[in-house]
Amino acid sequence: MSLIRLDKYLADAGQGTRSEVKIKLKQCRVRVNDTVVKKPETKINPDEDVVSIDGKALFHEEFQYYMLNKPAGVVSATKDERDKTVLQLITEDKRRDLFPVGRLDKDTEGLLLITNDGVLANNLLAPGKHVDKEYYALVEGRVTEETVESFRQGVDIGDDKLTAPAVLIIEESGEESRIRLTITEGRYHQVKRMFEAVGMKVKYLKRLSMGCLKLDETLEVGEYRRLTPEELEELKNK
Ligand code: URA
Repeated sequence: MSLIRLDKYLADAGQGTRSEVKIKLKQCRVRVNDTVVKKPETKINPDEDVVSIDGKALFHEEFQYYMLNKPAGVVSATKDERDKTVLQLITEDKRRDLFPVGRLDKDTEGLLLITNDGVLANNLLAPGKHVDKEYYALVEGRVTEETVESFRQGVDIGDDKLTAPAVLIIEESGEESRIRLTITEGRYHQVKRMFEAVGMKVKYLKRLSMGCLKLDETLEVGEYRRLTPEELEELKNK
């Protein structure tokens, strides 16, 4: 690991913005290997140096990975003037460079991966990778085998190309239908627009999985947890 500036290290470790950590440094609250250090530009080696703040040792984590069960009413963005963001739901000492991997609509619930690992995010989002995304939806009206066939063949949602083949499973069909849909693309409002293309309306949408990562159903809506080492390894080896 290369050397990094102490103020960046502290900010990355969730100790505040660069200016906030500068204040903590000035207040003599930070030690590197038991020596008080006040200069923000001091270079440290995260693999060897022990950095502590108020006597508590910090651990350097280059990458963090969280699974969030996103609630409705929260936007998949890092910052927003008006709405609460998914990042505001991660309340522990988190890295400041986290971002959501892809977007769920404000009213969509379910699996959202939040990380600062850009390589992993690209691998999951790149159009050429065709990563499966499975959704559960409640749809107004009767979903039929005809819809299953249309989605299998691809539908016109107003873009240059039809949607790629998608797998629709009808769990219950009636005045309202419960379905599962697996798509391999990530177009804007894709699931809602696919149903609109066949004259139907999605009333509720929840993402269940992304690639091999499945929503932990023990997470209440709005709760999150770190990915397990097994989940992470599977995701990286995809
Ligand atoms: N498709 C949608 O229409 N909305 C989402 O949030 C995700 C997929």
